[in-house]
Amino acid sequence: MIEAIIFILAYLLGSIPSGLIVGKLGYGIDIREHGSGNLGGTNTFRTLGIKAGLLVTGADILKGTLAAALPLLFGLDHLHPLLVGIFAVVGHTYPIFAKFRGGKAVATSGGVLLCYVPLLFITMLAFFFIVLYISKYVSLSSMLAGVYGIIYSLFTKDIPLIIVITLLTSFVVYRHRANIKRIIDKTEPKVKWL
Ligand code: G3P
Repeated sequence: MIEAIIFILAYLLGSIPSGLIVGKLGYGIDIREHGSGNLGGTNTFRTLGIKAGLLVTGADILKGTLAAALPLLFGLDHLHPLLVGIFAVVGHTYPIFAKFRGGKAVATSGGVLLCYVPLLFITMLAFFFIVLYISKYVSLSSMLAGVYGIIYSLFTKDIPLIIVITLLTSFVVYRHRANIKRIIDKTEPKVKWL
């Protein structure tokens, strides 16, 4: 029973639509009606600028970290943090508080990994910025950071980590279908500040 409550809590935590809250309360707009239409940090940066972008990205990461920490906070050693974290990622992507139109799973997945293997998160972030510097595509950098994460996880021999990061990366790629098409068509927007 308590397990079910933790999973629901993680989903609800992930469902908190930080991009929508910051956009509506701070600027009076729904960021899903602007830019790429995505309810995520990148589209917030693009639409509302650096302050709002950082705030939303930070909040989205935090949702994943907190969700993955729930088993520890409730003293439930038998519940795997990564399993609980998946529920937050699903909440972030299909949020009950925002008509199930959420983000692309990147920042919240990162937050889950930050809780479970901080070093993996830090090196993934570094890899993300290297790809971003070279390509200028946030979407491509997000997907390739996930691929990097899978390769890293293979060295850890941590089976749950290998399985979950493979699932999360596949889900991230699936959520970036439109971006992949735009990259191929050369219409994907590039970041200008790098
Ligand atoms: O985190 C999402 C990012 O990889 C792409 O976002 O708004 O460019 O589709 P966006």
